[in-house]
Amino acid sequence: MANLLSNIPANDPLAIPDQKKIIDRILEENKNLPGATMVVLNELQSQIGFVSETMQQYVALKLRVPVSRVHGVISFYSFFTTQPRGRHTIKFCMGTACYVGGISQIIDKAKQVLGIDPGQTTKDGAITLEICRCVGACSQAPVILIDDVSHGRVRPNKFPQLVRPIQEQ
Ligand code: FES
Repeated sequence: MANLLSNIPANDPLAIPDQKKIIDRILEENKNLPGATMVVLNELQSQIGFVSETMQQYVALKLRVPVSRVHGVISFYSFFTTQPRGRHTIKFCMGTACYVGGISQIIDKAKQVLGIDPGQTTKDGAITLEICRCVGACSQAPVILIDDVSHGRVRPNKFPQLVRPIQEQ
């Protein structure tokens, strides 16, 4: 524990007193519940906004479970994020229709325009890229969601135009 606490990055929620208080409260309130790991991680995601690597180690220590179990939960459920989200989120639908319709080329274009992969956030904190499942607009494939607004039949060459308004906000 001493080792972990002396290596916390300065910008990690565990290093920020107000946020650490929230983390400790969540752990304290839920540590004895059945399935405490899942409950605690869920609360951390919703109240802190993400679950950093250091937070995952802290949860494992406090709940006395292997870090590998915490990592397993985080990587299995797509709603967990390990970094803070940007001010805007672009989601790429990876359902079958969108996959067949060429969503991969849109993702490639996004990587090229923004310099990040899905799961990452631009350095200026503006945009996070994510993958999602079918959003129910298959006839419009390929579909992307920009801040949860659906855009269908997106072509790679149209992506820069779609993303420009949120890059500037
Ligand atoms: S597969 Fe993308 S909206 Fe259904």
